[in-house]
Formats: sequence, C-alpha cells, structure tokens
Amino acid sequence: MNGVAGAGNGGGDPQPPAPRPGIPRHVAIIMDGNGRWATSRRLPRVAGHSRGVDAVRTAIESSIAAGVEYLTLFAFSSENWKRPPDEVSVLMRLFVSSLQREVDNMRRNGVRLRVVGQIETFEPRLRELIARAQEQSAGNTRLNLTVCASYGGRWDIVQAAQRFAEQSASGACPADEAGFERYLSMSFAPDPDLLIRTGGERRISNFLIWQMAYAELYFTDALWPDFGRAEFTTALEWYAQRERRFGRTSEQLQRAVG
Ligand code: FPP
Repeated sequence: MNGVAGAGNGGGDPQPPAPRPGIPRHVAIIMDGNGRWATSRRLPRVAGHSRGVDAVRTAIESSIAAGVEYLTLFAFSSENWKRPPDEVSVLMRLFVSSLQREVDNMRRNGVRLRVVGQIETFEPRLRELIARAQEQSAGNTRLNLTVCASYGGRWDIVQAAQRFAEQSASGACPADEAGFERYLSMSFAPDPDLLIRTGGERRISNFLIWQMAYAELYFTDALWPDFGRAEFTTALEWYAQRERRFGRTSEQLQRAVG
C-alpha cells in the first residue's frame, strides 16, 4: 500500500470515479497462495506473506486505475488463528507495519480504509493503529479499501442476526432482507460484483457469504504474490464478458437495453 504510482492528483481529496460500464464497482479478493509461493522457493512461509503485501499495493493501484470504487481483501480469517503461533505473529506484525507506513499514502491517493471483523481479538496496539488509520482516512473518497481481519462470514451473519432480532422485534427496522443487511459488517458497501480467488482453490472459505449471492466468481492458479497488474486486468476483462442476469432471462436483459 506504499507509493501508489500515478494515483495522486497533486493535492486535495481525489474525487470518486464515475461508474464505468463493464467495470465492477466492488471487487473482493481471497489472497491465497503466499505460503506455496515461499516454499516453492525454499523460503519460510512468512516470506510469502511479505511479498503478499507488495501484491496488495499493486491491487490498490490497479483498482484506482480501473475505476473500481470498493476493494475488499480477506487478510485473516477467523480460522487463521489456528495457524502456527509464529506465522500468526508475523502476520500481525505485517498488519502493524503496513498500517504505520501507509496512512500518508492513503491520504494522498484518496483511499479510505476500513477494517471489519472481530477486531476485539487483536492486541490493543493493533486495535489503536486500526482506529487511527480509519479516522485519518475517513474523508477519502476515491477508493474504499476494506481489510477483513479475524473475519468469518458466519460470524458476520450471527452478529447481524442478534442485532436485527432486537431491532425488528421493536419495530425499529423492517423485518426483511434490506432490514437485515443494515446490520452486516459491510453495510456501507454495495455487494461485491467480482470475487477473485488466487492460489488455485475453488471455494469461498467463509468469506462474505451473504454478500456474495450474485458475485461473479473468478478463480486463478496464480499465487497471490504473483498476482500483478496484468493478472488484475485479465480478471476485469473476464468480468466485462459476463452477463449478469440477477434471476432474469437473457432476452429480458437484451430487451431492457435495446
Ligand atoms: C493466504 O495464503 C494468505 C493469508 C492467510 C494472509 C494474507 C495476508 C497478506 C497478503 C499480507 C497482509 C495484508 C494486508 C492487507 C496488509 P496461504 O498462507 O494460505 O498460502 P498457501 O495456501 O500457499 O499456504
């Protein structure tokens, strides 16, 4: 997330882009394959996570360049706490150092950061850095970057259901899908249009399981540290070819545009 090349406008807050036809408003990414990238080079797994941070930077640059409005990254799942303690602590250190380094770049490039998930499971220092980075970037409007950390889709649905049950019972919100969605942790964003998963697996792994209902799913064998600008562009080109029907027929859609 450092030095987003060519994205700044030389001062002031860059404006959000106008929606572009064929470009997803919201791209979500499962960044898989850091460990395999490292072990195939006889490096420790954590070296793959460091290179993964570089790939995060590239994904941010590519999103801004393409006019994507929301970029959501699955950085650490609720289940990742089960990894070896050394690997978990390296990942935590990477989050801390990235947050410390990137606040200025986010301001320059108009990137608003949000972190969603069970933040209370992080150590106080990381929680403070997250709070500060969110506050300092809150006025930025060019790209909404969300990092899902200590996040699980089932956790999200359960925490939303608990609050929804209280509020809808008292009549404070409608007892329907739209009413429920207000309590999901990404209620500030439209649902993802495109999910990218690197690393060759073809599954959702408890990522935004409610929000992914109509996402186009793009799976690639590229390992996350190798997922560069060209790979991002290929994913967007694939997306642009999809016909998004949302339950309608192809004929209905063609009639609507024609
Ligand atoms: C999955 O690869 C990757 C992770 C669990 C961590 C992702 C973290 C980063 C890319 C770095 C930090 C991110 C931010 C936003 C600062 P894996 O380890 O499961 O790979 P494998 O399947 O090859 O073992």
